[in-house]
Amino acid sequence: MILPIYIYGHPVLRAENATVTPEFEGLHQLIEDMKETMYHTKGIGIAAPQVGVNARIVYIDVDVLAEDFPELKGVNMVLINPEVTIDETAKYVSREEGCLSVPGIHENVQRFEKIHLRWQDEQFNEHEQDIEGYLARVVQHECDHLDKTLFIDRISPIRKQLVRNKLNNIIKGKVSCDYRCKFAHPKRHK
Ligand code: NI
Repeated sequence: MILPIYIYGHPVLRAENATVTPEFEGLHQLIEDMKETMYHTKGIGIAAPQVGVNARIVYIDVDVLAEDFPELKGVNMVLINPEVTIDETAKYVSREEGCLSVPGIHENVQRFEKIHLRWQDEQFNEHEQDIEGYLARVVQHECDHLDKTLFIDRISPIRKQLVRNKLNNIIKGKVSCDYRCKFAHPKRHK
């Protein structure tokens, strides 16, 4: 089932996200719905709070970027309770990002070039892997959602000032979006 995307300003994006246990009811259906919603909205990553569920679940599929980043061919992952750690020597890289929950805004964000990721899969098997490049960026963006952080929290103060009006309009639902959205304070419906 395609779920609505919760949009910037909605409190669900700023709420605590619970650790997921095998007792989590409806986990597999939720993951299927997150996948379906992400493909429908043409995203490359989605975190559970973006569909209104405050749980530590992320889905990533970066295969569409394989033309620019051949190493991403066929790469998709379900991350349950992911934990990112940073190598002290890791460099920052800056690149443009967007987010399904912040429609119409794209800004440069500094991310670590290399991370170490630990996570569980849908069967709660443990995994860990060193990740770098564009995938490391997507993982950091999505894991940020689980820590109540959006990419616009990480842009420069000057850029933030420049997009302030756009952000205020997004909160009010004054933004065009080609997927179903849940706004904090909808003033009109499109
Ligand atoms: Ni996002």
